[in-house]
Amino acid sequence: MWSFSNAFTSAFKELDPIPQFKATAKLGGFLERRDKGMDYQQTQIAEIYDLANPWAQDYDFYLPLAGVRPCSVLDLGCGTGTLCCALAKRGHRVTGVDPAAALLAVARSKPHAAQVEWVESSAQSYKSQRRFDLIVMTGHAFQVLLTDADALAALETMRGHLKERGRIAFETRNQRVDWVGEWSGRQRLVGTLARRQLLETLEITGQDGEFISFQTSYRSPHETLTTSRELECI
Ligand SMILES: C[S@@+](CC[C@H](N)C(=O)[O-])C[C@H]1O[C@@H](n2cnc3c(N)ncnc32)[C@H](O)[C@@H]1O
Repeated sequence: MWSFSNAFTSAFKELDPIPQFKATAKLGGFLERRDKGMDYQQTQIAEIYDLANPWAQDYDFYLPLAGVRPCSVLDLGCGTGTLCCALAKRGHRVTGVDPAAALLAVARSKPHAAQVEWVESSAQSYKSQRRFDLIVMTGHAFQVLLTDADALAALETMRGHLKERGRIAFETRNQRVDWVGEWSGRQRLVGTLARRQLLETLEITGQDGEFISFQTSYRSPHETLTTSRELECI
């Protein structure tokens, strides 16, 4: 059974809650695209990740999907492992997969991380003999897959690792929202690091159809960290 998320009010946790997210089964309409990659390999960006992306309503949606009985869960693009650790705390057997070693290092330091199997891999290339009751891709991790080939390879990974009657859940953005308008020049204080306030600024650096490139800066009184990304916003 395929299960897609419904009506998130905060699906991309880097952003303020926006009530216009909707469920979308992203199975067609892909364009060929080169993956420009992401900057999550930077240790400093990884350390800021949880400040900028605290527990949010999308985790509230995904967590109960595992049910109350212990089951096996695969989190593809698990990032800093917040959901993995919460699932492990509830007794589930969890595998967290992410290509960014810096994010996995943060994940490994969290409570209940020792109960989680952490794997450094992309969703496209992850392979295991294990089969899972639930496979998730949260925080819009699916939207970092910018080509038909990559998206289909990730879906193949899901299909190949799913138990019979297992469930898959991930989300995409509501294409009716003007994301460029929402994000252009957006600023917010995301918290303090080493007693210094961090100001996050988003700048749109390009748009090509549903593909949006943007730069995120984290500015403290002594330093500015910058990360660039491209997402497919459908
Ligand atoms: C916006 S973060 C979401 C992280 C986490 N799922 C969450 O909800 O906080 C996107 C994640 O996708 C990961 N990622 C990038 N390319 C990926 C790929 N090809 N396969 C799986 N994950 C990928 C990044 O390293 C990052 O952890």
